[in-house]
Amino acid sequence: MDIHAPIGVLDSGVGGLSVLKCLHRLLPHEDFIYVGDTARTPYGIRTEKEIRGFVAEMIDWLAAQGVKQVVIACNTLTMLGVDTLKGEYKFSIVGMSKGEKLLLEASKKKKIGVLATPFTIGTEAHKKAILAVDSEAEVYPMPCPKFVPLIEGEQFDSPQLAAAIAEYAVPLKQAGVDAVILSCTHFPFIQEQIAAEFGLGVTIIDPAEATSLEAIASLREQGLLRGEGEGRVEVCATADIERVRRLTRRMLPEIDCEFREINLRQKK
Ligand code: DGL
Repeated sequence: MDIHAPIGVLDSGVGGLSVLKCLHRLLPHEDFIYVGDTARTPYGIRTEKEIRGFVAEMIDWLAAQGVKQVVIACNTLTMLGVDTLKGEYKFSIVGMSKGEKLLLEASKKKKIGVLATPFTIGTEAHKKAILAVDSEAEVYPMPCPKFVPLIEGEQFDSPQLAAAIAEYAVPLKQAGVDAVILSCTHFPFIQEQIAAEFGLGVTIIDPAEATSLEAIASLREQGLLRGEGEGRVEVCATADIERVRRLTRRMLPEIDCEFREINLRQKK
């Protein structure tokens, strides 16, 4: 494996840019190649069979770009089981952290909210992970199907987004949660609005950093971390590259990225 090879980061759309932001902050010497399947997003309302086919195409495409690691910057895809995605690839594959330890440290009342796509919530993976650490905790899962299309559609100031945030927050506020995890990588795009809706007593957790640290530990173990040079960031998407460029500027204003619209079936 080449230490100078890029790190691949993938998501169904622009959500994984929130993880790329964190990875780039912690690994400024690395090259990154991001792929978002904007032609087929959202994934979180689709069947497992469909999603498995899509993610295999994305990992194959990144393999053809010669990556040294793939970070699955998507909770929905992580729920399929990273081990089952590993296949025959030579590089390591890292999925999203469930953030259970961070949540239990942050929540004094042990009342925890989980915001995610319907697919992720349906797996109950976060609930099980939290209860495995502390069986006394109360977990309140909330499927949020309206968020991803509104974020992909750049509807940040729309009344529809404000109404959706209020709608999803009501039951969790009534339950008295004091920590909430954003278990969909799109949601950090609206983290400020979500935090404002819950108010000061509620800690909002983004598992991007915990995920990035796992990716770094794996690269370090393999002797694949670069120690110098300025990393290059390429953002690729399967549709709407201009929209992706605008959303990238919103999430990563400090990084000078290159952009490419791609077809996952053409590997180069
Ligand atoms: N960003 C993805 C996640 O973390 C979800 C997107 C989707 O539903 O396509 O789950």
